[in-house]
Amino acid sequence: MNAKLVIANWKMHGTHATNARLIDALLPSLQGIDGVQVAICPPMPYLAQLSDLLEHTSVAVGAQNISERAQGAFTGEVSGQMLADLGCAYALVGHSERRSLYGETDAQVAMKFEAALNAGLTPVLCLGETIHQRKAGNTNAVIGSQLKAVLDQVGIAKLAKGVIAYEPVWAIGTGETATPEQAQQVHRHIRQVLAARDPALAAGITLLYGGSVKDDNAAQLFAQHDIDGGLIGGASLDATSFVAICQAACA
Ligand code: PGA
Repeated sequence: MNAKLVIANWKMHGTHATNARLIDALLPSLQGIDGVQVAICPPMPYLAQLSDLLEHTSVAVGAQNISERAQGAFTGEVSGQMLADLGCAYALVGHSERRSLYGETDAQVAMKFEAALNAGLTPVLCLGETIHQRKAGNTNAVIGSQLKAVLDQVGIAKLAKGVIAYEPVWAIGTGETATPEQAQQVHRHIRQVLAARDPALAAGITLLYGGSVKDDNAAQLFAQHDIDGGLIGGASLDATSFVAICQAACA
């Protein structure tokens, strides 16, 4: 069994004041949870605030996005080096909202993954199928091709330095969660695809599930053999729910 990881994705929510209140409410409980690495990905403008608030705690900071470029004339972009400078340890890459709303391609996601590694960050590669792709029986093929784009770019040794989050698009923010069995099937498939390149590295890579994880379904999901934790959107904005989810990961 791999070490457990739970990542909060705050998406585009928060202010200085509400962030401080949420961290105040979370920290006493999160600090007491053993055996689970917790990370929080606030909106970019609040990375410095979160780094300050979480300094000298066990909770890490992550970014929700990263530029695939190292530096230069790329208006509005934020590089991996800047994220590291702001105290980030993780960067999400290829979240389905980035893919579907902002047109990020598999190739771009692969470059972002590599850019995160180059900056010393742990990339969290998000993969997931739409409901149409699932209904057409194409889930494994879609996940496989999203994964292959990154494998072709960086190879298995570098891919294994990152984290993978399986997030079915139809489960994100909808309240409809994959069943533990559905999630486990895709996680097993991801591990098999990686094992074809290197079984030992495949066994050790952290695989998260994301998509409407709540305090009442987290334990069942995290109990699955190939699920090593979660990427949590909506429920991470509520201190009681998020703490309960983190506790479920250490059970
Ligand atoms: P959700 O979001 O938990 O609100 O479904 C998960 C995610 O988008 O990472």
